[in-house]
Amino acid sequence: MQGIKIRQGEKPLRGQVKISGSKNAALPIMAATVLEPAEYILSDIPVLRDIKVMKAVLEALGGKVEQKGNSMRIDTRDLNSAEIPDFLMRRMRASILFMGPLLGRFGKVKVSQPGGCSIGPRPIDWHVKGLKQLGARFQESHGFLTGWGSSLKGKEIHLDFPSVGTTENIMLGAAKARGNTIIRNAAREPEIVDLQNFLNSMGAEIIGAGTDMIKITGKKELSGTEHTVIPDRIEAGTFLVAGAITRGEIKLLNVIPEHLESVIAKIKEAGFELTEEGDTLTINSAGTAPNSLDIKTHPYPGFPTDMQPQFMALLSLARGTSVLTENIFENRMKHAEELKRMGAKIRVEGRAAIIEGVPRLYGAFVESPPALRAGAALVLAGLAAEGETCVVDIEHIERGYENLVGKLQQLGAEIEIIHLEEEEKNG
Ligand code: UD1
Repeated sequence: MQGIKIRQGEKPLRGQVKISGSKNAALPIMAATVLEPAEYILSDIPVLRDIKVMKAVLEALGGKVEQKGNSMRIDTRDLNSAEIPDFLMRRMRASILFMGPLLGRFGKVKVSQPGGCSIGPRPIDWHVKGLKQLGARFQESHGFLTGWGSSLKGKEIHLDFPSVGTTENIMLGAAKARGNTIIRNAAREPEIVDLQNFLNSMGAEIIGAGTDMIKITGKKELSGTEHTVIPDRIEAGTFLVAGAITRGEIKLLNVIPEHLESVIAKIKEAGFELTEEGDTLTINSAGTAPNSLDIKTHPYPGFPTDMQPQFMALLSLARGTSVLTENIFENRMKHAEELKRMGAKIRVEGRAAIIEGVPRLYGAFVESPPALRAGAALVLAGLAAEGETCVVDIEHIERGYENLVGKLQQLGAEIEIIHLEEEEKNG
């Protein structure tokens, strides 16, 4: 088993770091390549575990995928299956993003219940409902869901909630459907705009991504294309917190500050100085402890749920009491228990965490919950804690961050990946 060891926390991180391409933008784009038998070239694909699973799904469907560093060439001309193997579905929730494109390509799809982060119940009912509205039929039996729909038809669809994955699946299903589709109450995340740009470069006709109404004019035929994925706003936010929590100074390269507005606002409210210059963003902490904050997670452009755990770590060291409210997922506070082992004072009441700031956190042996941002939050806490911290069960962190440890080393952190025997973990 692997762990992340921080030999000595409380060291201000300094220097610059290049932010990788967005995982959550890359995943639906990779799924979109199934829509049309063609060749695709993608740049700024992050090297991380979820992308490897997506690559494995494409290969299981009969696609050819070559990855060299951050470039990926995908050939979907010889695809011969519309069934996603169960063991891959279980490894990553984003596999459900193949439902729309496989229906669009083969008029058929077979999936099982998806896995992924353990952050409360994450049903796929809205995905199914949306695709049904486009004319697909579904049948569930023995844990598998099979969908048919050889001629999907455009429709006006009003989402119950601006779900990111549902919006993407409907866009993917509608891109080759007959007629026009309108998605109302659509999710507005930047990753959806990136998917629109990718699909349009394939010849699709989509407008409105980034607003709550997306209009898709179905096209009979699309084509292969080249695309560069947007920078990862959650990785960027994680490094901003790394700068703030260690009271250092970090310059982030390859960011789109506009995508981070709600995070930037909270970092500033906490008392940190931020300088934007083109596609760079610098945080300067001037050695100060953060002010306490009141944060509620919301769909974009609200404060992202994917930054909630990292801010819980930061606010553990704030001056005063903070309240963090999680509105998107039901059970996304498991990191609180582990932070408490490091000396944090946190009380979780339903969807809210009340965090009483302490002057110091202490290094400890902690377990990453099976959720990737929660694991990152523990690493951040370890970087700020006195003495040595060991975070075990890090495979979920590796699902979502490209070279997190290497990038933190580059900023001066005394951090490394270690191999632990099972007995060490238990003892
Ligand atoms: C995406 C992101 C994830 C982020 C989340 C919210 C990817 C690969 N993942 O996940 O990192 O945390 O957006 O910003 O882009 N829901 C249902 N039924 C459904 C679908 C969703 O009840 O059919 C619920 C979920 O349980 C959750 C809420 O809707 O409570 C939001 O989920 P959604 O926006 O769909 O998130 P994902 O697309 O899964």
